[in-house]
Amino acid sequence: MRLVILSGAGMSAESGLQTFRGNHGLWNGYNIYEVASPQGWATDYKLVLEFYNSRRREIGKALPNTGHRAIAALEQWFEVVVVTQNIDDLHERAGSTDIIHLHGEITKARSSRQSDLIYEIGYNDINPGDFCALGSQLRPHIVWFGEEVPEISRAAKIVSQADILVVTGTSLQVYPAAGLIHEAPSGCEIWLIDPERPELKIPGVQYIQAGAGEGFQQFTALIKSR
Ligand code: OAD
Repeated sequence: MRLVILSGAGMSAESGLQTFRGNHGLWNGYNIYEVASPQGWATDYKLVLEFYNSRRREIGKALPNTGHRAIAALEQWFEVVVVTQNIDDLHERAGSTDIIHLHGEITKARSSRQSDLIYEIGYNDINPGDFCALGSQLRPHIVWFGEEVPEISRAAKIVSQADILVVTGTSLQVYPAAGLIHEAPSGCEIWLIDPERPELKIPGVQYIQAGAGEGFQQFTALIKSR
């Protein structure tokens, strides 16, 4: 059985990482286009570097939560693929082995000239003057607003082969990621785990109103009791 998890920022909320939207969301304190767009980079790349250096330091200190660990444990019973919008590495650190990062990875830097020139940087800052092998400034390996999402086709194929799809921690407001739920084949069981129900125009969705930690414990218990 193929189980696909589509996760968003709420997945890491219980690890102490802020979500983007809502009252206490990150985008209340920042202008998205200043820090997460090619225009923002062209206007003030030092501000962009500072923004992601802060995110990287926070992520380095955060730990996977019960939800991340429950998802990793599901590999005992299912072929699990995690398709995440998150740039953190908490699914990896919890032990999940098959993960697609739709919006990039904070622990990597890439050339601002050639997008496939990618470097592992761990939790270290990227500073002005840190160059790639071609001599151009390194930027975070993050997909910004207005940029292509290179992993979207691979993710769509994975979702189209799912027997069970669990959507969690995402407000489903950002495309093309939000559109992935429509790739689920007919007959695929769809679950939603979120304390606040996002609008999901798909019939027959099974909803667990809970945070990811408690929600995935409930989900695992339900699935195991079948
Ligand atoms: P959002 O901040 O838009 O949505 C967070 C979702 O998590 C909401 O539905 C919350 O109700 C839910 N949530 C809150 N606490 C939770 C918990 N403990 N457990 C489970 N769910 C919880 O985040 P995303 O949908 O991930 O993109 O945002 C999508 C994209 O927008 C991000 O990848 C990022 C952002 O701009 C880029 O930066 C390119």
